[in-house]
Amino acid sequence: VPWRATILTLYPEMFPGPLGISLSGDALGRGTWALETRQIREHGIGRHRSVDDTPAGGGAGMVLRCDVLAAAIDAAAPADDPRPRILMSPRGKPLTQARVRALSAGPGAVIVCGRFEGVDERVIAGRGLEEVSIGDYVLSGGEIAALVLIDACVRLLPGVMGKLASGDEESFEAGHLEYPHYTRPREWEGRAIPDVLSGGNHGAIAKWREAESVRLTRERRPDLLVSCKI
Ligand code: ADE
Repeated sequence: VPWRATILTLYPEMFPGPLGISLSGDALGRGTWALETRQIREHGIGRHRSVDDTPAGGGAGMVLRCDVLAAAIDAAAPADDPRPRILMSPRGKPLTQARVRALSAGPGAVIVCGRFEGVDERVIAGRGLEEVSIGDYVLSGGEIAALVLIDACVRLLPGVMGKLASGDEESFEAGHLEYPHYTRPREWEGRAIPDVLSGGNHGAIAKWREAESVRLTRERRPDLLVSCKI
């Protein structure tokens, strides 16, 4: 059975979007993974299929109804569906490469895309939703965040990256940034490739790369060095 993402959204037209091309799109076509979208509005209330209402206690914006979202979740994923249920939300736990690796190694994910000002808190607890954020900024909805999460998972599935397997995610998990990369030409617009990379001394090259990795991490992400192994 392929890795399977089920997306609950008010905008199913946003999928597969960029996941339908390149590496992830080819893998989708080969059946390495599967994507399903479910329209939350199909479970809306009344003739107008309402999905939201004004916030209890007053204030701006609208809140996604718990009964509507629960019905959509129950129709999309039975209680014994082993996949984690994720709510994309800027107040969620920040997504990490470690969480991506764990999700990618599992059966897939049921992903709820929030819209409006939020989701009625009761359905988060009532349906065991894990809130996940892709960063400290606010998107207009969870759809683009869901695309990011799925892309990160799918590229790790067996056979998706082929020989392109990269050390980038390993360096991230180890808590440092990747060293700089170069290719031909050896000199370009007055900038040369560092001599050590053309010297054929693989020990020296490894040392240079580790030093560069530490330098970049110290400059850009000192927060990573606190728990770093190098
Ligand atoms: N929805 C809106 N902003 C988001 C974010 N930063 N991460 C996940 N979901 C979101």
